[in-house]
Amino acid sequence: MLKPLLFVSAIVLLGVTASSAPGPEPQKAARASASDQKNPVKSAEKSQARAKELYGQECSVCHGETGDGKTDLAKDMGLTLSDWTDPKTLAAKPDGDLFNVIRNGKDKMPAEPVGRAKDDEVRNLILYIRSLAKAQPAAAPETPAAPVAPVAPIAPVAPPASN
Ligand code: HEC
Repeated sequence: MLKPLLFVSAIVLLGVTASSAPGPEPQKAARASASDQKNPVKSAEKSQARAKELYGQECSVCHGETGDGKTDLAKDMGLTLSDWTDPKTLAAKPDGDLFNVIRNGKDKMPAEPVGRAKDDEVRNLILYIRSLAKAQPAAAPETPAAPVAPVAPIAPVAPPASN
């Protein structure tokens, strides 16, 4: 009496598993990886927006909106701040050093505690302040194109001016 039932249910089970296994799974995998690819871009834009916000709230008062360090507070406190708009300023400094200065402070530079900026937010601040240099390659005199420009004006200007 039981045997026919068992056969039937066994066949049903086999049929169900066999038909469901190869079907939808590859499609799901493809969809998952496609949507994964979009997320990092969005979050990078967001975290840079957040870094800009943080910088404006806590850093620009000393380092300046543009990162040139020429602020009233810096003058009042007698701070000598480096000019980050010059691409050479931060180029030689590794991210780890910048991270430590931001996290722990240095001399008159105040520490940024975890409560105000998480590790990832500090890393994004570093990306942000490095990007301040790239913002003005055309205006900065020390760009790769620059050596050509100063040479030409100096020669013709000097003789007529002194005579
Ligand atoms: C009270 C003024 C002040 C504020 C606010 C301030 N800094 Fe600074 N920062 C300094 C001074 C002064 C130095 C130079 C420290 C030294 O080398 O003696 C410095 C140095 C640095 C450096 C090391 C590289 C360099 O140019 O010397 C980084 C990176 C930096 N600051 C990032 C930040 C960030 C990011 C913030 C905001 C979270 C911030 N600072 C807020 C005063 C400030």
